[in-house]
Amino acid sequence: MFKIDDVVKRGVRAVTISASLLALAACQDDAVSQSERDETAVTRAQTQFSQRVDGLLAEMTLEEKLGQLHQAAGGRSRNLNSRLTPEELDRVRAGAVGSYLHVAGAQPLAELQRVAVEESRLGIPLLFAMDVVHGYRTIFPVPIAMASTWDETDWQRAARISAEEASAAGLHWTFAPMIDIGRDPRWGRIVEGAGSDPYLGSRMAVAQVRGYQGESLAAGDTLLATAKHFGAYGVPTGGRDYGTAEIGERSLYEAYLPPFYAATRAGAGSMMTAFNDIDGVPSTSNEALIDGTLRARWAFDGLIVSDWNAIAELMNHGVAETRAAAGALALQAGVDMDMTSGIFVEELRQAIDADPALEADLDLAVGRILTAKERLGLFDDPMVYHQVQREQAELLAADHREAARAIAARSVVLLKNENAALPLELSEGRVAVIGALAADASTQLGSWRAQGRPEDVVSLLDGLREGAPEGVEIVYAAGADPLSDDLSGLEEAAALARSADRVVLVVGENFDMSGEARSRSDLFLPDSQRALASAILDTGQPVSVILVTGRPLAIPDIAARADAVLNAWMLGVEAGPALADIIYGETSPAGRLPVSFPRSTGAAPFTYSEYPGGRPADPDLARDTNRYMDQPITPLYGFGHGLSYSTFDYGALSGGVVQGEIRLAVDVTNSGDRAADEVVQLYMRDPVASVARPRIELRGFRRISLEPGASTTVHFTLSPAQAAVFQSPGVWQVEPGQLVFHVGGSSLDLASSVEVTIEDGFISDVPAAAIATRGETE
Ligand code: BGC
Repeated sequence: MFKIDDVVKRGVRAVTISASLLALAACQDDAVSQSERDETAVTRAQTQFSQRVDGLLAEMTLEEKLGQLHQAAGGRSRNLNSRLTPEELDRVRAGAVGSYLHVAGAQPLAELQRVAVEESRLGIPLLFAMDVVHGYRTIFPVPIAMASTWDETDWQRAARISAEEASAAGLHWTFAPMIDIGRDPRWGRIVEGAGSDPYLGSRMAVAQVRGYQGESLAAGDTLLATAKHFGAYGVPTGGRDYGTAEIGERSLYEAYLPPFYAATRAGAGSMMTAFNDIDGVPSTSNEALIDGTLRARWAFDGLIVSDWNAIAELMNHGVAETRAAAGALALQAGVDMDMTSGIFVEELRQAIDADPALEADLDLAVGRILTAKERLGLFDDPMVYHQVQREQAELLAADHREAARAIAARSVVLLKNENAALPLELSEGRVAVIGALAADASTQLGSWRAQGRPEDVVSLLDGLREGAPEGVEIVYAAGADPLSDDLSGLEEAAALARSADRVVLVVGENFDMSGEARSRSDLFLPDSQRALASAILDTGQPVSVILVTGRPLAIPDIAARADAVLNAWMLGVEAGPALADIIYGETSPAGRLPVSFPRSTGAAPFTYSEYPGGRPADPDLARDTNRYMDQPITPLYGFGHGLSYSTFDYGALSGGVVQGEIRLAVDVTNSGDRAADEVVQLYMRDPVASVARPRIELRGFRRISLEPGASTTVHFTLSPAQAAVFQSPGVWQVEPGQLVFHVGGSSLDLASSVEVTIEDGFISDVPAAAIATRGETE
């Protein structure tokens, strides 16, 4: 019998059952019929709002209600506030807008808010929103790099700082965290998320929600977080942004939804629906998923916003003939706010006239929007977000930059290091830094740069220059730019490389090659970067490659020929100093890949946690196994991979089931001669179950710091629910039998394992991967 721990308890129906198949079947039937009841839409009668919200609902006209559902663009993401014209103020006075996005600034937004509060009939405050995704003015590493720290405290801190800055600049609401699981590097938005793994992604989702929302949304320095894009946006066919997710229900619930579940448990105040469809059902009108799973089953009571113009795009999907029909579908499904299409404010009245039952849905949507405003404290003190002095003090504050530097250094991943190429511990000599990306400050801001400015960024080149030991001369040649075919600088760059003692070659993608609508069919380096790399590697000099990228790239040549490869992603405003800390050995790298690097484009998508299949890949068998003819099945660099300047030894993993919990422990020793961090990773395998289980699945991790020669014991405490197998929405079954746990420094480098016996099973209704492990060190 298992007792479910506190983490699991909230919102869980647990049934303890015997292991017999008969009993199993009976329990599942029971639970399924319960879940069918859960499928029904959340009703007005079931939903309680505060007295204030109920009072407003009673007073509002239909127009005012529809106005609350409308989110207008106050500008474009790179041209904020540009649409805040005098006519716009009239719309606010008339109560025709509930929220603005792509706006910012304590002072300009103060006037807008004043008009809403003082000059509209009911004085309902506006919600100001922006994509504050990895920083507001102090830009942190891009999200995929943040996830590479494998330490959620880093992300929580970055999100906290971002919220402090953005809230000081008049904002209440961020469209982050982006928690889409991405396993296909062709998909450009892989840069915006935490990578390929639902467990890692869930922990990172929680950290961000906590960071943005703090202890209280009403604190005045917090932001309403938006978990997006619900539910399977990260798996578009062919890696093409916005495309269909063709996935089975088990994959949806086991791989793609867990971070959303985790975000709801962490109290995320809002969610955004995805642009794409899952097997033909657009997420914007997916009632089973929004009202059924998210609201009824997971008890999410926050605000749901559509993506940009997505309600109108229901017509492109081919599920609505008119704008009014599209609006009705989205409203019925559970979408509360319409981002920019204008349908809710313009055409919903028509739909309500045709179907008065929609009025109840409308009241629910308005109530949720007003509740979000209330939670943010906007009814009590709407001007708390508009203190110009606070804005001046917060943006790019010295301690924010310090945090950005530390976190950037923690997110760098050392992929290869031979011949002791790194760190560069020279006391004299000449280092040639080659590559236009080294001097490209803008690229370090990545996609979604909010108010980040290139002039705030210390480029990689400047960081390497400023951090160079005395006596070391840094020389630079641009060689070639990723956006240009001009190869005329190659010769000069190669000559400079030849003249140097060591070469640092910076190659990769420009920031605009990853992000929204930035899907690529080719995962190799851009042509000019490949040419530059060849020219420099051909010099025969010792070359350390710094990879600048928003996605995993296929870099077989570099991997084979360079002495060292350091994946820097895009590191934010403190990119240069952070990189210098690593390159010159101030800090040992300990970032780990949150997604595998493929050997070629044809190997994407890929996950380390695939099912074994009946003919698992076997490199020693020439034919008829699950492999490619022309390249190894393994990734070039696997999930969890990342080297250190030190080395670590693992003892034997030990443990078992104690008082209903799975408790495991392993000793880890820093066997090298430098202080360094190690990311201890725990994987699980369920070797025999009612359905095939992934080869291995991440179920715990802990980033530890150890002095040379020092040891520590890392403990993991898991709920058995982390071994639950999806049966149907709302029904997860932990099956009796053996579980095998492996521990090591990467999914491809597992040091030790232990078997644990689960004697009884139980059913829970939570996505297994979303349940946090308690990891402690001794
Ligand atoms: C993106 C969202 C973003 C929104 C507002 C959309 O194109 O998909 O992630 O929050 O724009 O900027």
